[in-house]
Amino acid sequence: MSQELSQRCQEYVSQLFAREDAILSYVRQQTAERGLPQISLAPNEGKLLGLLVRLSGAARVVEVGTLAGYSGICIARALPDHGKLITIELSSLHAEVARSHFEYAGLADKVTVMQGAGVQVLPKLTKDAPYDLMFIDADKGNYHNYLAWAADNLKVGGAVVADNAFWGGNIFDPKSEDDHAMVAFNRALADHAGFDSTIIEVGDGIAVGVKTV
Ligand code: DHB
Ligand code: MG
Repeated sequence: MSQELSQRCQEYVSQLFAREDAILSYVRQQTAERGLPQISLAPNEGKLLGLLVRLSGAARVVEVGTLAGYSGICIARALPDHGKLITIELSSLHAEVARSHFEYAGLADKVTVMQGAGVQVLPKLTKDAPYDLMFIDADKGNYHNYLAWAADNLKVGGAVVADNAFWGGNIFDPKSEDDHAMVAFNRALADHAGFDSTIIEVGDGIAVGVKTV
């Protein structure tokens, strides 16, 4: 498919299936207004993430990289009634903004925001493993560590999902440390004997791996 047609198809899907509702629009707007990085998922990526949660039947989800809570809202909305999301955020400001957004979205009872670095907080969650799904959207240099945690702490049949698999195309001509980290992450996931994986070509690339052993 030509690049032009591919873009037209993505826009078609987005407009038909992934129209942002008032709550997600508010969160995106607040993210900008409060000076947080404007790197939340695109609406069609958020839609896909929610569908993956729903399709997998995940009830216990861990996210690394909360930011303002946009992806967390997409996840939490797709959970069953008893479902819970634990989301980890390094920045105390982002964590506070995200908590207010989960409150605003009526999801506060389903979501726990833990403030701290992913590699520091994740070991505290292992006692309650296994989890059903992990979403990675944080510091690129630690994606390999997050994948290792997923391999150890997801149930068989559980899924690891990661944003930025294409890293804006930089995986094809890696220069920075983050570029190389994403190349290494994609290869590690592809080669991992414990995951059946691919990259879904939506947005910046959503890597998905189902734990097989
Ligand atoms: C960046 C990080 C992200 O997770 C993203 O989706 C886009 C950009 C960044 O750090 O630049
Ligand atoms: Mg991202």
